[in-house]
Amino acid sequence: MSTEGVASVAVVGSYNHGLTMSVPDIPVPGETVLGGDFEEGVGGKGSNQAVAAARLGADATFVGRVGDDRFADDALALWDEEGVTAAVERVPDTHTGVGFVVVEESGENAIAVAPGANARLDGEAVRAASDAVADADVALAQLEIEDEPVAAVAELAAETDTEFVLNPAPARELPADLLSGVDVLTPNRTEANVLTGHPPDADREPAALARDLLDRGPEAVVLTLGGDGALVVTDESETRVPPVEVDVVDTTGAGDAFNAGFAVARGEGADLVTAAEFGCRAGALACTDYEVVPALPDREAVEGLAGETQ
Ligand code: RIB
Repeated sequence: MSTEGVASVAVVGSYNHGLTMSVPDIPVPGETVLGGDFEEGVGGKGSNQAVAAARLGADATFVGRVGDDRFADDALALWDEEGVTAAVERVPDTHTGVGFVVVEESGENAIAVAPGANARLDGEAVRAASDAVADADVALAQLEIEDEPVAAVAELAAETDTEFVLNPAPARELPADLLSGVDVLTPNRTEANVLTGHPPDADREPAALARDLLDRGPEAVVLTLGGDGALVVTDESETRVPPVEVDVVDTTGAGDAFNAGFAVARGEGADLVTAAEFGCRAGALACTDYEVVPALPDREAVEGLAGETQ
């Protein structure tokens, strides 16, 4: 549990080596486009969220799997540098996860991920790190891993006071019992559509979308709305969190920064809306620079932005 106001956050998820390219426009199927800048670096939604949580002042643990290759060396060096406790094993016969990211001039992105070692993270691996999950204020997972480890997090969290936050990215339809084990679900609109069996681009009203998910079991749904802020929905309330205006350069990792900010604030005892506001500020700041990890804000930056927007 947290000591002296420091949140303890256990992140269970993916690490991906990132290959990021800027393009004038995201290519459509069958199209080849000529890109511009190219960067190779660290990423993966789980690792990004753990690094962001540490930068925001949490005691952060990352539970995951990497391959036995040079990408894994970069990952271990990253967690060491960022003060993230790594409960990570190298899997000998597969590669570390890899993410291909294209970012267009508007700042929008498209990502393809080859999971590699991330797909080897199983329930047993999560249970082997059970102390980290059980002792955390908040356990945070995403969907670049299989259902089984996510369900293991839900089970461990249910046995303790740990709040289980599931960021369902990238979205897939989930078993009903898994969704009902989630305390707070944090999809964006396309993810919420997929989780409820609709096409990703279905034009559904945000509150109805969130309520549809809430009916499937989570205690709260925080629907992130990109440049429109977020919507926090529980059985009793529906609260719109306003957007934070920034100059957008690259939206990649905004969701990771949001989720880390939300989890850290919840771990510090913030209510759902206050935590979503903190998350929105962290997410906005992550859009102001290229790539993910270099753009993840620290605590001072998020608090500074709060001062500017009050
Ligand atoms: O959320 C951004 C992340 O998604 C990138 O780091 C990429 O690796 C993919 O996992």
